[in-house]
Amino acid sequence: MTERCPDENGWLSSANAWIDRMGEEGDFARKYILDHLMIPRILNEKPANMLDIGCGEGRFCRVIGEQNVEVTGIDPVDSFINHAKSRDPRGNYQCCFAESLPFADESFDLVVFYLSLIDITDLQAAIREATRVLRPNGRVLIANLTSFTTSNGTTGSVIGRDGKVYYPLGSYLEERANWFEWGGLRIRNWHRPLSTYISSLLDAGLVLTYFDEPKPIGGPHDSVEKYNKVPFVMMMEWKKPL
Ligand SMILES: C[S@@+](CC[C@H](N)C(=O)[O-])C[C@H]1O[C@@H](n2cnc3c(N)ncnc32)[C@H](O)[C@@H]1O
Repeated sequence: MTERCPDENGWLSSANAWIDRMGEEGDFARKYILDHLMIPRILNEKPANMLDIGCGEGRFCRVIGEQNVEVTGIDPVDSFINHAKSRDPRGNYQCCFAESLPFADESFDLVVFYLSLIDITDLQAAIREATRVLRPNGRVLIANLTSFTTSNGTTGSVIGRDGKVYYPLGSYLEERANWFEWGGLRIRNWHRPLSTYISSLLDAGLVLTYFDEPKPIGGPHDSVEKYNKVPFVMMMEWKKPL
Protein backbone atom coordinates (compact mmCIF):
# COMPACT_ATOMS: atom_id res chain seq x y z
CA MET A 1 0.00 0.00 0.00
CA THR A 2 1.31 3.51 -0.81
CA GLU A 3 2.00 5.48 2.34
CA ARG A 4 -0.13 8.60 2.63
CA CYS A 5 1.76 11.91 2.67
CA PRO A 6 1.09 13.90 5.87
CA ASP A 7 1.75 17.08 3.85
CA GLU A 8 -0.85 16.32 1.16
CA ASN A 9 -2.73 19.46 2.12
CA GLY A 10 0.20 21.69 3.14
CA TRP A 11 -0.22 21.45 6.92
CA LEU A 12 3.22 19.97 7.62
CA SER A 13 5.02 22.81 5.78
CA SER A 14 2.70 25.38 7.39
CA ALA A 15 2.82 23.98 10.95
CA ASN A 16 5.11 26.58 12.54
CA ALA A 17 3.22 29.51 11.04
CA TRP A 18 -0.06 27.96 12.30
CA ILE A 19 1.27 27.43 15.84
CA ASP A 20 2.33 31.12 15.97
CA ARG A 21 -1.04 32.19 14.58
CA MET A 22 -3.11 30.27 17.12
CA GLY A 23 -1.31 31.56 20.23
CA GLU A 24 -3.19 30.87 23.46
CA GLU A 25 -6.66 31.99 22.42
CA GLY A 26 -6.92 31.15 18.71
CA ASP A 27 -7.86 33.51 15.89
CA PHE A 28 -10.92 35.79 15.54
CA ALA A 29 -13.36 32.98 14.65
CA ARG A 30 -12.24 30.76 17.52
CA LYS A 31 -11.88 33.45 20.20
CA TYR A 32 -14.93 35.61 19.48
CA ILE A 33 -17.37 33.17 17.88
CA LEU A 34 -16.86 29.43 18.15
CA ASP A 35 -15.35 28.88 21.61
CA HIS A 36 -18.30 30.78 23.15
CA LEU A 37 -20.66 28.12 21.76
CA MET A 38 -18.52 25.00 21.57
CA ILE A 39 -17.30 24.99 25.18
CA PRO A 40 -20.69 25.21 27.00
CA ARG A 41 -22.24 22.85 24.43
CA ILE A 42 -19.56 20.28 25.23
CA LEU A 43 -19.72 20.66 29.00
CA ASN A 44 -23.54 20.69 29.35
CA GLU A 45 -23.74 16.89 29.00
CA LYS A 46 -20.67 16.26 31.17
CA PRO A 47 -18.79 13.95 28.78
CA ALA A 48 -16.16 11.72 30.40
CA ASN A 49 -14.00 11.88 27.29
CA MET A 50 -13.62 13.67 23.96
CA LEU A 51 -11.88 12.88 20.69
CA ASP A 52 -10.74 15.98 18.76
CA ILE A 53 -10.20 14.99 15.09
CA GLY A 54 -7.71 17.24 13.30
CA CYS A 55 -6.66 18.74 16.64
CA GLY A 56 -3.77 20.74 15.15
CA GLU A 57 -1.42 22.03 17.85
CA GLY A 58 -3.95 21.06 20.53
CA ARG A 59 -5.32 24.38 21.83
CA PHE A 60 -8.92 23.19 22.06
CA CYS A 61 -7.93 19.89 23.73
CA ARG A 62 -6.07 21.91 26.38
CA VAL A 63 -9.13 24.12 26.97
CA ILE A 64 -11.49 21.15 27.40
CA GLY A 65 -8.91 19.03 29.27
CA GLU A 66 -8.91 21.68 32.02
CA GLN A 67 -12.63 20.94 32.60
CA ASN A 68 -12.20 17.40 33.89
CA VAL A 69 -12.74 15.76 30.50
CA GLU A 70 -10.26 13.12 29.33
CA VAL A 71 -9.06 14.41 25.95
CA THR A 72 -7.62 12.61 22.94
CA GLY A 73 -6.42 14.56 19.91
CA ILE A 74 -5.45 13.13 16.55
CA ASP A 75 -3.77 14.79 13.60
CA PRO A 76 -1.63 13.46 10.71
CA VAL A 77 1.03 16.17 11.20
CA ASP A 78 3.65 14.98 13.69
CA SER A 79 4.93 18.49 14.50
CA PHE A 80 1.42 19.39 15.68
CA ILE A 81 1.17 16.20 17.74
CA ASN A 82 4.62 16.76 19.29
CA HIS A 83 3.67 20.34 20.16
CA ALA A 84 0.34 19.20 21.66
CA LYS A 85 2.09 16.54 23.79
CA SER A 86 4.71 18.97 25.02
CA ARG A 87 2.01 21.50 26.08
CA ASP A 88 -0.27 18.90 27.69
CA PRO A 89 1.48 15.81 29.07
CA ARG A 90 -1.84 14.54 30.55
CA GLY A 91 -3.63 14.49 27.18
CA ASN A 92 -3.51 11.60 24.72
CA TYR A 93 -2.26 12.75 21.29
CA GLN A 94 -1.76 10.45 18.32
CA CYS A 95 -0.52 10.93 14.79
CA CYS A 96 -3.06 9.41 12.37
CA PHE A 97 -5.67 10.27 9.74
CA ALA A 98 -9.38 10.78 10.45
CA GLU A 99 -10.24 8.23 7.77
CA SER A 100 -8.72 5.36 9.79
CA LEU A 101 -8.85 5.82 13.55
CA PRO A 102 -6.84 3.53 15.87
CA PHE A 103 -9.63 3.35 18.50
CA ALA A 104 -12.13 0.67 19.52
CA ASP A 105 -15.82 0.95 18.59
CA GLU A 106 -17.96 3.05 20.96
CA SER A 107 -15.05 4.42 22.99
CA PHE A 108 -15.88 8.17 23.13
CA ASP A 109 -18.75 10.25 24.55
CA LEU A 110 -17.99 13.10 22.18
CA VAL A 111 -16.19 13.62 18.87
CA VAL A 112 -15.22 17.12 17.73
CA PHE A 113 -14.27 18.39 14.27
CA TYR A 114 -13.15 21.97 15.01
CA LEU A 115 -12.63 23.57 11.58
CA SER A 116 -11.06 20.37 10.30
CA LEU A 117 -13.71 18.77 8.02
CA ILE A 118 -12.76 21.26 5.29
CA ASP A 119 -9.21 19.83 5.43
CA ILE A 120 -10.08 16.14 5.38
CA THR A 121 -9.82 14.44 1.99
CA ASP A 122 -12.32 11.59 2.41
CA LEU A 123 -15.27 13.18 4.19
CA GLN A 124 -17.49 10.08 4.17
CA ALA A 125 -14.76 7.81 5.60
CA ALA A 126 -14.00 10.35 8.34
CA ILE A 127 -17.66 10.60 9.36
CA ARG A 128 -18.07 6.81 9.32
CA GLU A 129 -15.01 6.45 11.57
CA ALA A 130 -16.19 9.19 13.94
CA THR A 131 -19.56 7.44 14.23
CA ARG A 132 -17.96 4.04 14.80
CA VAL A 133 -15.85 5.25 17.76
CA LEU A 134 -18.79 7.15 19.30
CA ARG A 135 -20.86 5.44 21.97
CA PRO A 136 -24.66 5.31 21.44
CA ASN A 137 -26.23 8.62 22.51
CA GLY A 138 -22.80 10.24 22.06
CA ARG A 139 -22.40 13.47 20.08
CA VAL A 140 -20.44 14.79 17.12
CA LEU A 141 -19.83 18.53 17.39
CA ILE A 142 -18.76 20.25 14.19
CA ALA A 143 -17.48 23.76 13.54
CA ASN A 144 -16.93 24.37 9.85
CA LEU A 145 -16.53 27.10 7.25
CA THR A 146 -19.81 27.91 5.54
CA SER A 147 -20.05 26.39 2.07
CA PHE A 148 -20.83 29.70 0.38
CA THR A 149 -17.49 30.96 1.75
CA THR A 150 -15.47 27.97 0.51
CA SER A 151 -17.25 28.11 -2.87
CA ASN A 152 -15.52 31.31 -3.93
CA GLY A 153 -12.00 29.88 -4.06
CA THR A 154 -10.62 32.70 -1.90
CA THR A 155 -10.31 33.25 1.82
CA GLY A 156 -13.72 34.92 1.77
CA SER A 157 -13.53 38.36 0.20
CA VAL A 158 -11.76 40.03 -2.70
CA ILE A 159 -11.05 43.69 -3.40
CA GLY A 160 -12.64 44.81 -6.67
CA ARG A 161 -10.99 47.19 -9.16
CA ASP A 162 -13.16 49.90 -7.64
CA GLY A 163 -11.51 49.27 -4.23
CA LYS A 164 -14.71 47.84 -2.70
CA VAL A 165 -14.88 44.50 -0.88
CA TYR A 166 -16.77 41.72 -2.70
CA TYR A 167 -17.75 38.21 -1.60
CA PRO A 168 -17.95 36.20 -4.79
CA LEU A 169 -19.73 32.87 -5.06
CA GLY A 170 -18.69 30.30 -7.63
CA SER A 171 -19.49 26.76 -8.77
CA TYR A 172 -21.27 26.10 -5.50
CA LEU A 173 -22.38 22.56 -6.34
CA GLU A 174 -18.95 21.41 -7.57
CA GLU A 175 -16.93 19.63 -4.88
CA ARG A 176 -13.22 20.46 -5.19
CA ALA A 177 -9.98 21.30 -3.37
CA ASN A 178 -8.52 24.84 -3.43
CA TRP A 179 -5.08 26.03 -2.30
CA PHE A 180 -4.79 29.22 -0.22
CA GLU A 181 -1.80 31.27 0.87
CA TRP A 182 -1.93 33.71 3.76
CA GLY A 183 0.26 34.71 6.72
CA GLY A 184 3.06 32.23 5.94
CA LEU A 185 0.66 29.31 5.37
CA ARG A 186 -0.11 27.43 2.17
CA ILE A 187 -3.05 25.13 2.75
CA ARG A 188 -5.42 23.01 0.70
CA ASN A 189 -9.08 23.22 1.78
CA TRP A 190 -12.09 21.41 0.37
CA HIS A 191 -15.16 23.11 -0.94
CA ARG A 192 -18.27 20.95 -0.57
CA PRO A 193 -21.88 22.09 -0.78
CA LEU A 194 -23.69 22.02 2.56
CA SER A 195 -25.83 19.18 1.23
CA THR A 196 -22.73 16.95 0.92
CA TYR A 197 -21.94 17.40 4.62
CA ILE A 198 -25.54 16.88 5.69
CA SER A 199 -26.02 13.78 3.50
CA SER A 200 -22.79 12.20 4.75
CA LEU A 201 -23.84 12.72 8.37
CA LEU A 202 -27.36 11.39 7.73
CA ASP A 203 -25.95 8.38 5.83
CA ALA A 204 -23.84 7.55 8.90
CA GLY A 205 -27.11 7.27 10.89
CA LEU A 206 -26.60 10.45 12.93
CA VAL A 207 -29.44 12.76 13.99
CA LEU A 208 -29.12 16.57 13.86
CA THR A 209 -29.72 18.12 17.29
CA TYR A 210 -28.35 21.65 16.85
CA PHE A 211 -27.47 24.08 14.06
CA ASP A 212 -26.24 27.65 14.22
CA GLU A 213 -24.65 30.42 12.18
CA PRO A 214 -23.35 32.27 15.21
CA LYS A 215 -22.51 35.95 15.59
CA PRO A 216 -19.31 37.21 17.23
CA ILE A 217 -19.39 38.10 20.92
CA GLY A 218 -16.91 40.96 21.28
CA GLY A 219 -13.88 41.47 19.03
CA PRO A 220 -12.47 44.36 16.98
CA HIS A 221 -15.26 46.53 15.50
CA ASP A 222 -14.02 46.26 11.88
CA SER A 223 -13.77 42.46 12.01
CA VAL A 224 -17.22 42.13 13.59
CA GLU A 225 -18.81 44.40 10.99
CA LYS A 226 -17.18 42.48 8.14
CA TYR A 227 -18.14 39.13 9.68
CA ASN A 228 -21.78 40.07 10.26
CA LYS A 229 -22.12 41.05 6.60
CA VAL A 230 -20.96 37.62 5.40
CA PRO A 231 -20.57 35.06 8.22
CA PHE A 232 -18.01 32.40 7.43
CA VAL A 233 -18.46 29.81 10.21
CA MET A 234 -21.29 27.51 11.23
CA MET A 235 -21.82 24.93 13.93
CA MET A 236 -23.73 21.63 14.11
CA GLU A 237 -24.32 18.93 16.72
CA TRP A 238 -25.31 15.39 15.73
CA LYS A 239 -26.28 12.48 17.97
CA LYS A 240 -25.72 8.76 17.54
CA PRO A 241 -29.07 7.06 18.30
CA LEU A 242 -29.31 4.49 21.11
C1 LIG B 1 -7.62 24.45 10.29
S1 LIG B 1 -6.67 23.25 11.16
C2 LIG B 1 -7.64 23.15 12.62
C3 LIG B 1 -6.86 22.66 13.80
C4 LIG B 1 -7.61 22.68 15.12
N1 LIG B 1 -8.80 21.85 15.09
C5 LIG B 1 -7.97 24.09 15.49
O1 LIG B 1 -9.14 24.44 15.50
O2 LIG B 1 -7.05 24.89 15.74
C6 LIG B 1 -7.09 21.72 10.31
C7 LIG B 1 -6.37 20.51 10.86
O3 LIG B 1 -6.87 19.35 10.18
C8 LIG B 1 -5.80 18.45 10.06
N2 LIG B 1 -6.08 17.44 9.01
C9 LIG B 1 -5.94 17.55 7.67
N3 LIG B 1 -6.26 16.39 7.07
C10 LIG B 1 -6.62 15.53 8.05
C11 LIG B 1 -7.05 14.16 8.07
N4 LIG B 1 -7.19 13.47 6.94
N5 LIG B 1 -7.31 13.59 9.27
C12 LIG B 1 -7.21 14.31 10.41
N6 LIG B 1 -6.81 15.59 10.45
C13 LIG B 1 -6.52 16.20 9.29
C14 LIG B 1 -4.61 19.34 9.72
O4 LIG B 1 -3.37 18.70 9.90
C15 LIG B 1 -4.85 20.51 10.64
O5 LIG B 1 -4.23 20.35 11.86
